[in-house]
Amino acid sequence: MTSGGYDESGARSGGGTPPVARRPSDPAESAAASRGWWDAQAADYLEEHGVFLGDARFVWCPEGLSESDAGLLGDVAGRRVLEVGCGAAQCARWLCARGADVVGLDLSMAMLRHGRQIGLGCGLDVPLVQGDAARLPFTDGAFDLACSAYGALPFVADSAAVMAEVARVLRPGGRWVFAVTHPVRWSFPDDPGPAGLVARDSYFDRRPYVEQGPDGVATYVEHHRTLGDRVRELVGAGFRLVDLVEPEWPEDNTRTWGQWSPLRGRVIPGTAIFVCEV
Ligand SMILES: C[S@@+](CC[C@H](N)C(=O)[O-])C[C@H]1O[C@@H](n2cnc3c(N)ncnc32)[C@H](O)[C@@H]1O
Repeated sequence: MTSGGYDESGARSGGGTPPVARRPSDPAESAAASRGWWDAQAADYLEEHGVFLGDARFVWCPEGLSESDAGLLGDVAGRRVLEVGCGAAQCARWLCARGADVVGLDLSMAMLRHGRQIGLGCGLDVPLVQGDAARLPFTDGAFDLACSAYGALPFVADSAAVMAEVARVLRPGGRWVFAVTHPVRWSFPDDPGPAGLVARDSYFDRRPYVEQGPDGVATYVEHHRTLGDRVRELVGAGFRLVDLVEPEWPEDNTRTWGQWSPLRGRVIPGTAIFVCEV
């Protein structure tokens, strides 16, 4: 979510289509906006965050929590793993280097192309598949583990469909671990500074944040789920919640990533990592 600047009705004074609105966005519009946005932004995104993400690191979140330290997936050697919304597939390569049989899936061809280039450069060329997390192109029970570090879920209109799809492609007893923006952040302006410490919007307002062109077509969409919504969609898909990790901001992380900053990280949680089993 970028900084607001919209009014509650979504209308811009003077008429016309507001560039930012809080309005419904269905699965097709949200997916089209995400694909266009990530295709267009892939190079800039990796220019800005590529060093922090590394070529083959597994970083869960802007706080910098790594899978090496957290061990949320358990032993991955020999496991069949799906990374959902893998972007340039840094996490998938970390998994591959530890002996996992991993596939990365993402909606954006541009992100996957960067992933392939990085993989060829560092000798960890993992299989990458272009697809939508809400319609996974894999057979039932194909994976032991699934993971996502801010991939797909913040951007999909029907995240219950993603949960159902992940449950379907996991074998019984399989594990699903995913990181998303902590839901309480929805109430606060997307500002890494002091303005981002003052609650402004309702936590209970599920209308998505939509950036749109003058024609009203969405160019970027983010969807909100409350904590309760997430638990219900997980349970509805047959998952059992094993843990909810809220990484604290470490003293030695002085980096600001969009709205995530040391200032805010000391006061409010920035990331929620759900650990589930089916
Ligand atoms: C913030 S990146 C996360 C990827 C990686 N972990 C990183 O930190 O760069 C979000 C990714 O989700 C992908 N994405 C968005 N909507 C998706 C969808 N419906 N299905 C699959 N991937 C999606 C985007 O293309 C993008 O690569």
